[in-house]
Amino acid sequence: MKAPQTLFTCTNCGAQYQKWAGRCSECGKWGTVAEESTSPALAARPSTKPGKTASFVDLAAAGEIPRNKTGLAVWDEILSGGVVAGSVTLLGGEPGIGKSTLLAQLALSVASQGKTVLYVTGEESPSQVSLRLKRLSSTLPSTLLFLDETSADIVASTIAETKPALTIVDSIQSMRAPEVPGEPGNMSQVRASAGWIAETAKKSGASVILVGQVNKEGDLAGPRLLEHLVDTVIMMEGDRSHAFRLMRVTKHRFGTTDASALLSMNESGLSVVEDPSSALLADRPKQAPGTVVTCLLEGQRPILVELQALVTPAGYGTPLRRASGIDLNRLSLLLAVMGRRAGVGFGDQDVFANAVGGIEAKETAVDLAICLAAASAKLDKPLPDDLAVWGEIGLTGEIRPVARMDMRLKEAKRLGFTRFITPAECKHLKEAIALYSK
Ligand code: TYD
Ligand code: MG
Repeated sequence: MKAPQTLFTCTNCGAQYQKWAGRCSECGKWGTVAEESTSPALAARPSTKPGKTASFVDLAAAGEIPRNKTGLAVWDEILSGGVVAGSVTLLGGEPGIGKSTLLAQLALSVASQGKTVLYVTGEESPSQVSLRLKRLSSTLPSTLLFLDETSADIVASTIAETKPALTIVDSIQSMRAPEVPGEPGNMSQVRASAGWIAETAKKSGASVILVGQVNKEGDLAGPRLLEHLVDTVIMMEGDRSHAFRLMRVTKHRFGTTDASALLSMNESGLSVVEDPSSALLADRPKQAPGTVVTCLLEGQRPILVELQALVTPAGYGTPLRRASGIDLNRLSLLLAVMGRRAGVGFGDQDVFANAVGGIEAKETAVDLAICLAAASAKLDKPLPDDLAVWGEIGLTGEIRPVARMDMRLKEAKRLGFTRFITPAECKHLKEAIALYSK
């Protein structure tokens, strides 16, 4: 018989190695690769008794997936009709984006239907949570239960005992699995805690929402670590200094992953923005150089957004490139294409580009808008206010088609745009720039 092999795992990202290494070649961190221990906690779990067999499922008799409406419109809508009993959802987002706020609203909504909600807070003190809840609602339903706890096994047994309709764990990184080695928040701890809580939830039919803090690189506690453990992943993004937040479903075992919603953060928490395009264009300057409107596709939803650019003569050294809501590498590439293929160079210019409203405009369909905003800024010539543009730019300066141009066009027309530069009628960046630069 072959001896069992020792496995080394990076506690930061989960990469596995046959041999120990000082530096993880996946995530680049030093001193994070450790021998993977067979966790006594996992080994101690109840196993199926010998002789006991599983029974087969009659698929023909399997009914509809029962969904429970939470009463919080955005949550029900984005999850194709409500929370599925026994399901585990991960809500990810950077700190301060509004995850706890949204979940406090959700907890209040479900508890006010008379259902038991268990809110586990490992990150904030009960007084912080209570302050937030009082800000959101004048009364606290008696079915809203609190647990100030970081031990995953205590949380799991409380779920099994109390059988709440909904359990919220804020956050999974603050939970620890006592019998698993390592600091709370590290990979084995997060995996074990999430696994435990998810398993208990499945057994007791309780729905669980886990909050996942996202680090600067956008990873949820190590790549894909939690994603495959849960049924649904919802990501919240946006810029903390702006009111808008975008919520999108990136994985959903019980429905579509095309759903997205724009939310707005105000004094009474997060609310749904009914018409995202007009909200995002509300404060648009008129006849200003360096701005143009483009159309994003969030799931199956077209959203108009304004892109801005500022171009100024550079000082000494390498010219600056700064981007917010736009991919910086993409911006550099597009500026290079403009210089070489469209005759508008930025070699001695600092370029700042921005997607208005704190929105992430990172699909390649916004390429053309970035180029036209930069060209308009450099030439100091405003583009028409009723112009909307989209298209991907190739390395020769060609304008390439993007997905769902029909939907983007319809949305732009709905908002009153009458002029368009799109891959349907314009084939090269040079042509597009020439249209309005005379
Ligand atoms: P929070 O939900 O704690 O973010 P996360 O859990 O993702 O870290 O809070 C986000 C911000 O929202 C915080 O700075 C305070 C603000 N806020 C409001 O603007 N209005 C509100 O009604 C509440 C509850 C919070
Ligand atoms: Mg929080």
